[in-house]
Amino acid sequence: MKILVTGGAGFIGSNFVRYILEVHPDYEVVNLDLLTYAGNLENLADLEGRENYRFVRGDIADAGLLDGLFAEGVDGVVNFAAESHVDRSIEDPGHFLATNILGTQALLEAARRYRVNRFLQISTDEVYGSLAGEGAFTEESPLAPNSPYSASKASADLLCRAYWKTYDLPVVVTRCSNNYGPFQFPEKLIPLFITNALADEPLPVYGDGLYVRDWIYVRDHCSALDRVLHDGRPGEIYNVGADAERTNLEITQTILEKLDKDAGLVRHVKDRPGHDRRYAIDSSKIQTELGWRPETPFQDGMADTIDWYLRNEPWWQKIKSGEYREYYERMYRNR
Ligand code: NAD
Ligand code: DAU
Repeated sequence: MKILVTGGAGFIGSNFVRYILEVHPDYEVVNLDLLTYAGNLENLADLEGRENYRFVRGDIADAGLLDGLFAEGVDGVVNFAAESHVDRSIEDPGHFLATNILGTQALLEAARRYRVNRFLQISTDEVYGSLAGEGAFTEESPLAPNSPYSASKASADLLCRAYWKTYDLPVVVTRCSNNYGPFQFPEKLIPLFITNALADEPLPVYGDGLYVRDWIYVRDHCSALDRVLHDGRPGEIYNVGADAERTNLEITQTILEKLDKDAGLVRHVKDRPGHDRRYAIDSSKIQTELGWRPETPFQDGMADTIDWYLRNEPWWQKIKSGEYREYYERMYRNR
């Protein structure tokens, strides 16, 4: 099987490429990535030189480039490529619409023309918006995105539905909860707080810190995607989550305790506009239909993740010393 993975140089994409080649060593993977600020070839340095792995730098919205790649033969597409950070979408929504909506549509169009057997769209639980009260999102929950990021992902998600209904393109969509693990860019909560704590820098908690996210270890997300890629039913949506709801303050405390750092590093700062209060995912459909289960308890995944950032300081120091500093100043200086 030959798979075109897009966004494979980012956090989840790079974990997925490594995972899929580990469990299916005979597969061929082409990784198409634009290498934006979030893409990093060091994430896949261990795969360089492998015969069945190829990296191509380019934009998923580039129809000419896609034409050339699909003409070489592609059995399945796994679309991770996206602008993925909510705070950046609030600052400058335009890129999010270009990549997440128009880019996905260009990819769907190429997949349609070349009749690929499978198109897996990596959507997100953020398309459901914010949960009020008890319960969890099911695949039937209404879409109610609240940020430019989640609105762009919801648009892409609906375009996938339209390509299935209108053109019979065998599209499957997954909506996963918050991932954490190795190679996550240190703009997101967990790697930001781990690396700030290691440098004895403040941990900027938005608002009261009682916002809730449902966390999944990235390898468990990858195993779910492997199941859906092979056995998911075309036209279906599968929620993916690991039943690990935590407030942001609980996450902060876990990190401080594991690193033996002082709670005095915590700073409550101005809240994120339109901040979703709570996400929680009901993943019973993928568990019942496809027999998938998450395998990593939250405390084990967090211990492994913190250990990974401790062992890989050159990886994140390099990121944090570059253009990231400018971003950090802009985003947090007057917060
Ligand atoms: P990321 O920001 O770490 O990686 C995104 C990758 O896409 C980068 O390598 C970047 O260079 C690439 N990219 C961006 N624009 C591109 C373009 N126009 N053409 C080609 N490549 C481009 O993101 P992530 O956290 O790994 O998320 C991957 C996907 O999973 C996204 O679609 C995101 O919406 C979705 N998702 C993320 C989470 C999470 O918790 N991180 C949860 C659910 C779903
Ligand atoms: O739910 C899936 C989504 O999870 C993905 O679709 C997104 O791509 C991914 O970025 C993530 O979105 P969140 O907005 O939930 O993740 P983030 O790490 O940015 O924030 C997690 C929580 O932590 C959220 O409530 C905001 C808060 N936060 C975040 C940062 C960066 C802080 O309190 N301080 C911070 O500095």
